[in-house]
Amino acid sequence: MRTQVCIIGGGPSGLLLALLLHRAGVAAVVLERKSRDYVLARIRAGVLEQGLTDLLAEAGVGTRMAREGFRHDGTLIAAFGHQIRIDFQALTGRHVTIYGQTEVTHDLYDALDAAGVTVIHEAEGVALHDLTGAHPHVTFTTNGTGRRIDCDHVAGCDGFHGVSRAAIPQDLRREFEHVYPFGWLGILSETPPVHDELIYAGHDRGFALCSMRNAHLSRYYLQVPLTDRPEGWTDTAFWDELRRRLPEEHAQRLATGPAIEKSIAPLRSFISEPMRHGRLFLAGDAAHIVPPTGAKGLNLAASDVRYLSQALIAAHVAGDDSLLEGYSARALGRVWKASRFSWAMTRMLHAFPDEGPFLRRMQEAEVETLATSPAAQAALAEAYVGFPY
Ligand code: APR
Ligand code: PHB
Repeated sequence: MRTQVCIIGGGPSGLLLALLLHRAGVAAVVLERKSRDYVLARIRAGVLEQGLTDLLAEAGVGTRMAREGFRHDGTLIAAFGHQIRIDFQALTGRHVTIYGQTEVTHDLYDALDAAGVTVIHEAEGVALHDLTGAHPHVTFTTNGTGRRIDCDHVAGCDGFHGVSRAAIPQDLRREFEHVYPFGWLGILSETPPVHDELIYAGHDRGFALCSMRNAHLSRYYLQVPLTDRPEGWTDTAFWDELRRRLPEEHAQRLATGPAIEKSIAPLRSFISEPMRHGRLFLAGDAAHIVPPTGAKGLNLAASDVRYLSQALIAAHVAGDDSLLEGYSARALGRVWKASRFSWAMTRMLHAFPDEGPFLRRMQEAEVETLATSPAAQAALAEAYVGFPY
């Protein structure tokens, strides 16, 4: 089989890239290790920057999002006795959209089906070959049968645990990593959200986040030690702890119910440079991971995909490779800025038990600055709604 761009990974990065390329007349095939049902059952974040919603609309997958998504013009930071509303609209003229990543993935699959783009599921043993030579190709097996796809370019969209990043020789790659000493325990519950905007809560007992998917479905998180297990948290213990970490007025209004999903995720900042090796280009979680504070994971994947789709289209349609040459530097510029924001938000609002009282006072001073400085609020708002791309 032959195609122009072989895309490894059928998460949001790979699917959106395939659709954008198809719309521009560039042929692509997506190889995904898991089944489609598995991919669609994954629960992930759901705060979309305008850059991403614009890109989805441009790709022709904005209709359901426009109908079912919720526009948020601000968010609440509740920490160390302050309640600070960050007014995105007033400070930046922009907003974010609440629409689950699962729904985005769903819409992308529907659009790819309608367009007739090939997505091969349960592709095992995917391996990348001759990335710097004349005949780049990808091998894999499905149902025990070995297969090969020849292509001009490979897009590595296979997430943090994929094979694409590892196909770049170690001596040509530099990895930057920061691991945080705690995780997030997340639950999904069929209850109305406690507030009409997200609440990021900093508390001496640890961070908490009140998020949502829609008017009847809430998503809540608690900072927990990495040694905790989801089974060790009863629903009652979760709700009690969340109440303790929220300002009184919100704690009192919290509607509780059974958790329909409960999991613990570690927090990590990770960036691998460069995002290109020969004819291989990385995008999304394959190249970088951010902690979820600030919801930048999916949004960073989107900016990579925008830059990469533009570059591949220029190469294939106009014969111009210059954007491909500049892709890694362009994408990484934005990745570092959003990673800094995610790190700073994490540092400002979490409890760091091993760090002692100095950091705690610094956090207080940072929140105090945010409460009293319109410039500090504008800087947070600008990063939260997303740096332009
Ligand atoms: N072969 C084929 N597919 C693979 C392989 C492999 N060896 N390894 C991983 N994959 C698939 C995964 O099963 C997954 O569906 O690649 C996909 C990667 O998807 P994501 O991890 O969602 O990464 P990405 O598409 O870059 O999305 C980034 O979405 O998942 C969130 O936290 C993530 O918010 C971030 C954003
Ligand atoms: C979520 O809704 O899952 C969510 C929202 C905001 C974040 C992280 C996760 O910062």
